[in-house]
Amino acid sequence: MNSVARERDQNLRERADRVIPGGMYGHLSARRLSPHYPQFYERVQGARAWDVDGREFVDMMCSFGPMIVGYQHEKVEQAASAQRERGDTQPGPGPAMVELAELLTERVDHADWAMFGKNGSDATRLCLSAARATTGRRSVVMSEFSYHGWSAWSNKFADGQPGHADPETFRYTFNDLDSVRAAVAQADPENVAAIYVSPFRHDAGHDQELVDPEFAKGVRALCDEIGAALVMDEVRAGFRLNHGSSWEPLGVKPDLSAWSKAIANGYPLGAALGGDRFRDGIQQVFATGSFWYQAVPMAASVATIHALKDENAVATMEAAGTRLREGIAKQAEQYSVDISQTGPVQIPNLSFAGDAEFKKAMTFCGEAAAHGAILHPRHNWFLSSAHTDADIDHVLEATDTAFRAVRSAFGSD
Ligand SMILES: Cc1ncc(COP(=O)(O)O)c(C=O)c1O
Repeated sequence: MNSVARERDQNLRERADRVIPGGMYGHLSARRLSPHYPQFYERVQGARAWDVDGREFVDMMCSFGPMIVGYQHEKVEQAASAQRERGDTQPGPGPAMVELAELLTERVDHADWAMFGKNGSDATRLCLSAARATTGRRSVVMSEFSYHGWSAWSNKFADGQPGHADPETFRYTFNDLDSVRAAVAQADPENVAAIYVSPFRHDAGHDQELVDPEFAKGVRALCDEIGAALVMDEVRAGFRLNHGSSWEPLGVKPDLSAWSKAIANGYPLGAALGGDRFRDGIQQVFATGSFWYQAVPMAASVATIHALKDENAVATMEAAGTRLREGIAKQAEQYSVDISQTGPVQIPNLSFAGDAEFKKAMTFCGEAAAHGAILHPRHNWFLSSAHTDADIDHVLEATDTAFRAVRSAFGSD
């Protein structure tokens, strides 16, 4: 049990409350979780994180996805430090931007060009701009609960009020091609600029669903039929499932794709990738940001993308994710607790039967946090290639205690 006093964390929370509205830290807010979670961290290394009070955790959230080859990965940090010594924010981008665009267009088979921003919202928005400028149309069709960034066109909660979705956004149900056709009809096929897809269904608060290859092919065909862009949001899953775009193994190529989170192993970077048909369109769009061309994240990204392949990271994440999934399945059976583990093992999701209000999940993850594993009750977790067998075994020790806590609070199923 992680029983160190939590004075520094508590003190920082109190100070933050006075100067940060609502003490909010967005999706990283520990307030919505069990009190066993720390809010503030001191340092990270490999797959581990230490909070400001010195408690040690295995991070199964990878900071909500950005860390993929390990915190403080030697080659990534060397590349970032070497670039930092030369400059980061400069009057223009460094050579790393061109190198990175060349590398991404080599790795991702639908991509002929790359444009960069700071985060996933920039990347998904750049894709929308490319689609609108190229097609001369406005509407966008996306899956029912999917999240493509915080700005209003894709975020039902953008103004703090639910239900005020952008009027040019139309929703479908993932893996249901008829519902995509219905959303397109509602939007008017001649006005659809883009259909957004994610590599698999990974909506927070829902079980995950792998894509049906027929759905992937059907959406591709529908985009071709109506002249809309197929946009793949790779922000969450990119480079965890495949070294290129996530649907390449299915033989389905999007027209545009949005990347961020893991592409620079934690350095702030987003990228929109596209095919030649969208090159003229995106050139007409005015899109920029004060820090978009920083050189350090781009140098870190080049090193990350090389490390991913050189270190066989996808297979390593798969192996670690399988160890975790099998261990959890065994424990659930031992404790007679009914669970669902869904999605790819590299980006796993755990839910409990009859747990609409996430009470069991909160108890489970709170207990795991108390025993040194950072999980999340409503959001998928992330594996990295730095998660060793020892890390996973440590997590499994924590989940064993967590299952016992769930059974004692809620009974067996
Ligand atoms: C699938 C997906 N798209 C877009 C975004 C937005 O990315 P960012 O938070 O970096 O703006 C996220 C963030 O979690 C995401 O998961």
